[in-house]
Amino acid sequence: MRIVILGTGAGGGTPQWNCGCGNCDAARAGRIPAMSQSGIAVSADGRSWALINASPDLRAQLAATPALHPTGLRKSPIRSVLVTNGDIDHVAGLLTLRESQKFRLFATRTIHDMLDDNPVFQVMNPEMVRRSTITLDTPFELVPGLHAALFAVPGKVPLYLEEGESVDTQLIGEQTVGVELRSERHRVLYIPGCATMPDWLIQRIGGADALLFDGTLWTDDEMIVAGLGKKTGRRMGHIPVSGSDGSLDALADVPVGRRIFVHVNNSNPLTDPFSSETALVRAAGWDVGHDGMEIAP
Ligand code: MLT
Ligand code: MN
Ligand code: ZN
Repeated sequence: MRIVILGTGAGGGTPQWNCGCGNCDAARAGRIPAMSQSGIAVSADGRSWALINASPDLRAQLAATPALHPTGLRKSPIRSVLVTNGDIDHVAGLLTLRESQKFRLFATRTIHDMLDDNPVFQVMNPEMVRRSTITLDTPFELVPGLHAALFAVPGKVPLYLEEGESVDTQLIGEQTVGVELRSERHRVLYIPGCATMPDWLIQRIGGADALLFDGTLWTDDEMIVAGLGKKTGRRMGHIPVSGSDGSLDALADVPVGRRIFVHVNNSNPLTDPFSSETALVRAAGWDVGHDGMEIAP
């Protein structure tokens, strides 16, 4: 199995267009790496590829990834696209894929409905893009040699579908999913958004050859403390990395081959490879992803 992290950033990326925080300024100045928005590419054979999530930065991500370049006239190695929720940072890139290229679009019924409710996505010609509905916990062939199963993780509806102030951030259903990838020899989990860490999820993660997990925020209130926003991470559907109820502690004793944080927000000190927080997660056996990072579990 080959995995390429196309974008390591959360919504907005680093630098974010309208943000002058320390991390965004450092990324603009080239002192820390930029992070484009969230998505990965996976393949079993290196010839047929699937995208998992399609970010607003997809066009540049594809250009920067030789394995995803066309192999002939209007001939892309991308066979399928799978989206794990309806968030802008995971679906806006579908609009980049509108140029008459055949591929399968995999999602749960609920996520397909969110797309269908937005007529702009009709730009993906149904004769070219076949939409396949995936039932939770039911494996399907994502690309030749690679099966995927979707499972519910605690989350919420996309920001643009929130109604009012009180939003259930721990919905378990079809609107936020994790992906279990299986090749002949390996099992990999990709979970870019997750609000809490229930025991059943820890059980599922145990024994994976690799885990790419939600690293949006370091502390739950970091956006509030930094003056960047009014919401906690949990309110946004993301468990923090640090703290007694964070992902680092919850997964400390769970056996996993490689563990990598993805979907890292620009407010998170993990965007800085030289921060003490980055040193701490490395010492705990984690990596922080970077754009273009390739993983062969
Ligand atoms: C999230 O992951 O919380 C969303 O991508 C936020 C957003 O829509 O920008
Ligand atoms: Mn996001
Ligand atoms: Zn910023």
